[in-house]
Amino acid sequence: MKRCHWLSLFVVLLSGLISSPVFAAEPEADESGLYEMKQEHDPNGIGKFYMGREIARVMGHQGALWLERPEREEEENLSLLVKLLDLKPGMVVADIGAGSGVLTLRMAPQVAPGGKVVAVDIQREMLLRLQNRMGEAEITNVDLHLGAPKSPELKPESVDLILMVDVYHEFEFPHAMVENMAAALKPNGRIALVEYRLEDPKVPIKLVHKMTEEQAIKEMTRPEFGLEHTRTIDDLPRQHLLIFTRKKTTDDE
Ligand SMILES: C[S@@+](CC[C@H](N)C(=O)[O-])C[C@H]1O[C@@H](n2cnc3c(N)ncnc32)[C@H](O)[C@@H]1O
Repeated sequence: MKRCHWLSLFVVLLSGLISSPVFAAEPEADESGLYEMKQEHDPNGIGKFYMGREIARVMGHQGALWLERPEREEEENLSLLVKLLDLKPGMVVADIGAGSGVLTLRMAPQVAPGGKVVAVDIQREMLLRLQNRMGEAEITNVDLHLGAPKSPELKPESVDLILMVDVYHEFEFPHAMVENMAAALKPNGRIALVEYRLEDPKVPIKLVHKMTEEQAIKEMTRPEFGLEHTRTIDDLPRQHLLIFTRKKTTDDE
């Protein structure tokens, strides 16, 4: 094989390693005025922009094995991530965009007894896969919940912690999602947002799947959400862990 063929084979293999299967669905029309559509855009994005950021394509359920790859523990230090969430028995945690449940399955034992994880995803196939994995791991304190692109459809003031790992950047309607997630938080509830660091060019992930800390804070703290940024933890190898807390209202006192 000629040298350039080897080179292109290497590039294809490499892009397979750092990418994952995606949905090719067209973005839904939206008249809220919050979003801008552009013809010229990143091929891994959907051409829809929110607060200057292009929204990424949703990762398809065919990519579940990639999410479950053993190297993820070292690449993302998932054990440390779960420790940093400060989980306690009795807590109700919502894992939004749970996928096949890599984080859900690690968190569920930490909130037992008395607590549970509500695993939310918009792909039924992901939840079915998670259901099988729960059976294998003999985990029973997980509720499976099919969400909608604009809302996880959780009850108001029902969760202590919302976790989003590698998902926020692919929400087709981030504004509606955050508004609805904020409403689902209990008065002292927190949102933990985990996104690959765009500031670090060495993090081998496609650009639209990464976010800067500044952009994430800008999007999450719009006044209408009633959320404040309370902490940034940069102890993970590749991702920011940002904590947002529900602001106190007069009703909370
Ligand atoms: C890259 S996967 C991450 C899965 C999981 N958090 C993990 O780290 O293993 C993103 C998941 O978010 C889901 N997703 C995308 N938009 C969503 C939405 N609006 N509500 C709930 N899930 C969503 C996708 O279906 C996909 O399963």
